Amino acid sequence: MPIHVAFIMDGNGRWAQKQNLPRIAGHEVGVQRIQGILETLAPLGVKFVTVYAFSTENWARPQDEVDGIMDVFSEAVASHTEDLHRENVRIVHVGRTENLGTELKNAVADAERLTANNTRITLNIAFDYGGRAEILEAVRRIIKDGINPDTIDEELFSRYLFTAHCPNPDLIIRTGGEQRISNFLLWQSAYSEMHYTSTLWPDLDAAELVQLLEDFGSRRRRYGALNAEDQFPEDEASETQTPQE
Ligand code: IPE
Ligand code: IPE
Ligand code: MG
Repeated sequence: MPIHVAFIMDGNGRWAQKQNLPRIAGHEVGVQRIQGILETLAPLGVKFVTVYAFSTENWARPQDEVDGIMDVFSEAVASHTEDLHRENVRIVHVGRTENLGTELKNAVADAERLTANNTRITLNIAFDYGGRAEILEAVRRIIKDGINPDTIDEELFSRYLFTAHCPNPDLIIRTGGEQRISNFLLWQSAYSEMHYTSTLWPDLDAAELVQLLEDFGSRRRRYGALNAEDQFPEDEASETQTPQE
């Protein structure tokens, strides 16, 4: 089972357009899916879920859509936080806060404060998040902190990212059919397993999610090395046997 599952929640706009609704209706339905996803994943032992809600590039959308997404998230965070808190969910914002509207900024800060000590599962909300901006911000803070360049290693660098509190994602799922990373978790995804589905985000259900977790379970992660079964495929059945020269 993966410890950390991250979602690129794509396809809200197309979902709405397909039913002749305004795009923002897709974002409304999309945000409601998140709690269901947590309810599916938490009992399976997943400890971290990251949802990509708004990228640093999404500011380029028409102003009314940007405002609409902001409102949808402010409202969703404010109205679901109590529920999530009761379910022992910790909420963490990953991304820049400077440019968020006051309402969203406050809702997220309240949610983080209230749920800070919850332990069942962590929900990272990636809002105004961009992988490149995150890496640049880490570099700036490392320099400001006067860190000795010779001591900078991957472990230290990771501690300067928005995701310092969690392990790298084991599995990244993108809905909506596009097969790209769109500036999501660039550093953290170095060895993540990827899954692309053409299902639009509002249509992703528990059945598909469970199925794709099963698929994840059958994958062999090598991290550049070789597993025993790669080296001695004929011995796969017997672990005690040593290979003949
Ligand atoms: C993803 O859905 C959510 C955000 C990027 C905010 P989209 O809004 O990108 O939906 P499509 O890709 O246009 O269908
Ligand atoms: C990725 O979706 C960002 C989020 C899901 C928040 P986009 O719809 O913005 O991605 P592109 O533009 O198709 O790459
Ligand atoms: Mg999209």
